[in-house]
Amino acid sequence: MSVNNPTAGALVRAGQLVSLRRHIAQDEAAFVRWYTDADIAYVLRHDLRPLTPYQAQGYFSTIVLPNSAHGTAWAIHHNETNALIGTTAITEIDERGGECLFRIVIGEKELWGGGLGTDATRLVVAEAFERFELRAVNLEVFAHNPRAYRSYEKVGFQERGRSEEWARNVRLDVIAMRLPREAWDGTYRTIAH
Ligand SMILES: CC(C)(COP(=O)(O)OP(=O)(O)OC[C@H]1O[C@@H](n2cnc3c(N)ncnc32)[C@H](O)[C@@H]1OP(=O)(O)O)[C@@H](O)C(=O)NCCC(=O)NCCS
Repeated sequence: MSVNNPTAGALVRAGQLVSLRRHIAQDEAAFVRWYTDADIAYVLRHDLRPLTPYQAQGYFSTIVLPNSAHGTAWAIHHNETNALIGTTAITEIDERGGECLFRIVIGEKELWGGGLGTDATRLVVAEAFERFELRAVNLEVFAHNPRAYRSYEKVGFQERGRSEEWARNVRLDVIAMRLPREAWDGTYRTIAH
């Protein structure tokens, strides 16, 4: 079960089901629980292996927390309970090309399939297009993760290609998807146009 976190970080952007907030140091325990989970590693990591607790702590404190302070990574909170339920980010931000790579994990597995990840994705897309004024959001998803693929389709991402990778003798089919700003439906737009 997700744990209610009364000490949530500052609100960045609110959706219907979830909100994006700044990560705070207290989020580390949940983050480590998610990134050491085998089911999550199976859909998230290119070596299919969970991080060790030490690696997950380091990832959170040296990358995710500073990036969240900088505005490119966010804690996902459930609007009903305010509980921390996941984490999301844009990385590889190419300001000249106007592109980035989108990443997301709803870490509380019992909440998968409830629309929360899709709502969070819509919020990040709005951040990417409005705050960062990017021209396109890219992402990569494994073919063995149809839930994520469908979620991204609902937000408007379209497949642009497939590639094959190998990890520990397992073939991975990686699907590249893209949402150009002109194809964005404007959900959670805050700036009037
Ligand atoms: C991917 C993720 C963010 C999606 O968020 P979510 O809240 O679970 O997604 P939603 O409930 O909005 O949508 C899931 C959709 O997939 C569909 N779906 C679920 N399992 C499916 C399957 N096996 N095959 C096809 N579609 C499936 C659902 O029916 C739903 O579509 P619908 O609304 O048209 O019925 C979330 O599940 C998650 O964090 N998963 C673990 C980490 C992960 O996969 N991250 C992404 C890595 S690229």
